[in-house]
Amino acid sequence: MSAIELNARASINFAEKLAETQALLQRAAKEFTPVTQASSLGAEDVVITHLINSLQLRIPVFVLETGALHHETLALLERTQAHSQSDIHVYRPEHTSVLHFIRNEGQDAIFKSMAQRKACCHIRKMEPLSRALRGQRAWITGLRKEQSQARADVPLIDTSEESKGIEVHNSSPSRGLIKFNPLANWTWGDVWHYIAINQVDYNPLHDAFFPSIGCAPCTRAISLGEDFRAGRWWWEEETAKECGLHVKES
Ligand code: ADX
Ligand code: SF4
Repeated sequence: MSAIELNARASINFAEKLAETQALLQRAAKEFTPVTQASSLGAEDVVITHLINSLQLRIPVFVLETGALHHETLALLERTQAHSQSDIHVYRPEHTSVLHFIRNEGQDAIFKSMAQRKACCHIRKMEPLSRALRGQRAWITGLRKEQSQARADVPLIDTSEESKGIEVHNSSPSRGLIKFNPLANWTWGDVWHYIAINQVDYNPLHDAFFPSIGCAPCTRAISLGEDFRAGRWWWEEETAKECGLHVKES
């Protein structure tokens, strides 16, 4: 059974949510340039890129290519670069930092302690994120309230300090950075309904029970009844399951 067959189910007020999302993207493009979309190439992000293209908005997209993505994700990245009207910018980690980490800590270090896992996320995601956001006024993400408890109060427009990402905030190159979460109110069923009716290209890992897709070593399929993010950093405590890209201080 494909992810579309399994999940595509629009909410009663889907049309209103879609209109709200479209209006927000149009506003972001008009009033908040330079603005960029952060795409992991997951289901939410391919929907947003599709909307940006169909609304003919001049919003470039960036992908943090951590060097540890699944080959299915890399193949989708290539197809997106080939077909999208938006510019797709790819940010990779500093190669020497990655080699240094593996040499000193070992390839399996990320499973040994949270500190080592976070160090890897810092090198492969946070540092490249700080480069991707440099000089930007706003960024657009695929965060949704329904994804986890930690995301239950994700707003459509986030002007809080956390919206800047730790790295960016600490080194402060992007004062006043705003984060748009245009799918904040969408359900998983809404996301797949949009993909189905618009025939949006998506990561085939979604058909293999990967709802949330990150780096290959840190993502697994989920089984029936498990939480949406159960397949991410599954060996860690529920509350710790963020890589720093979207940290919410309690
Ligand atoms: S994560 O913090 O656990 O990795 P998640 O995979 O849920 O985040 O994705 C949430 C949003 O963060 C995505 O919709 C996207 O906007 C952004 N994001 C996550 N991973 C990447 C990536 N590799 N490149 C660019 N943006 C990303
Ligand atoms: Fe490293 Fe895993 Fe974080 Fe990817 S998700 S950067 S492999 S620890």
